[in-house]
Amino acid sequence: MPYYRTVGEIPRKRHTRFHKPDGGLYTEELMGEEGFSFDSALLYHIGRPTALKAIEAVDGEEQQTTPNHPLRPRHFRTHQLKAGGDPVSGRHLLLVNGDVRISYFVGSDDSPLYKNGIGDELVFVEQGTGTLETAFGRLPFEQGDYLVIPASTIHRWVLDSPAEPVRALLLEASGGHVGPPRRYLSRNGQFLEHSPYCERDLRAPTAPLLLEGEEVEVLVRSRAGMTRFVYQQHPFDVVGWDGCLYPYAFSIRDFEPITGRVHQPPPVHQTFEGPNFVVCSFVPRLFDYHPDAIPAPYNHSNVDSDEVIFYVEGAFMSRKGAGIEQGSISLHPGGHTHGPQPGSVEASLDAVSTEEYAVMVDTFRPLELGPGARDSEEDKYAWTWLGAR
Ligand SMILES: [Fe+2]
Repeated sequence: MPYYRTVGEIPRKRHTRFHKPDGGLYTEELMGEEGFSFDSALLYHIGRPTALKAIEAVDGEEQQTTPNHPLRPRHFRTHQLKAGGDPVSGRHLLLVNGDVRISYFVGSDDSPLYKNGIGDELVFVEQGTGTLETAFGRLPFEQGDYLVIPASTIHRWVLDSPAEPVRALLLEASGGHVGPPRRYLSRNGQFLEHSPYCERDLRAPTAPLLLEGEEVEVLVRSRAGMTRFVYQQHPFDVVGWDGCLYPYAFSIRDFEPITGRVHQPPPVHQTFEGPNFVVCSFVPRLFDYHPDAIPAPYNHSNVDSDEVIFYVEGAFMSRKGAGIEQGSISLHPGGHTHGPQPGSVEASLDAVSTEEYAVMVDTFRPLELGPGARDSEEDKYAWTWLGAR
């Protein structure tokens, strides 16, 4: 994330003496991506961010995955998945490949302190409110927010109310980083005028969190599994930070759709890019306005990708009669041609606009099915394009 921010107190020059009120020195932590050759942040801690008192492996259940074989389009109903747990340990693994893990969460418990040591996490909040507490400060979230959590950011989920569970789609990059599409950024990283959103739409922590505590546990995800670190002092003891690397929120409601006289291709909806995957937002918009335009999408073969759509809100015009409902996920894999269900094209002809919200994830390598997919699949979806010829 190339947008420079500064929060709290920092010294005038980096890597110089920065004194506490008692005369001691604050300690620096430089978080630098790609071997300090990409975005970074410089954080100032009251204690030492390196002081560990204990390290232990955390046993986790092996998550069995199965290839999408025989190849078929699929429909998962996430709202049928078991509720409970917290946003770190309560994830239902839906789909996975070597680049990304896609999970769903529904629950009401706060999470433990946690950091993903492998790659960035991108979360879409389908429902509920709360706060992401991080070493950078607080980041409140609500329904419709995307949260980008850089790799190695220590954070925890604090949910507002057990009465209103938080539902979220979670993407974990298996190495690498998530950010705005490069084509929407200037050479220096500023959003360009043709971008569907810009710096003003991004929310980041605005004040240090400054929590005290001793012997604080943090779960760390690595490729080998989960480890529990016990830090001597609370890691949220940062008095200030600056840089271009931090967690931030972006509401899907701030995505300004790109429309045209005839049907626009999927990339106009792109919102983020990650290593070997992209994320797109379908939002309320005017339909195509050529007098003979067909608002429904054309049939298409996503030749080099698996296409995952998470249906968030509204009537999903192109999926008429397919059993798609709020919280549904469709998987249209590479090697399969798909399009509107029978009758959708005709039904769309006089439509002027849509009120739908949906999130699409396109991966560039095939996805396997996780336990959450097997537990929520509705198995008639592949036949929903049949109808009178
Ligand atoms: Fe599609």
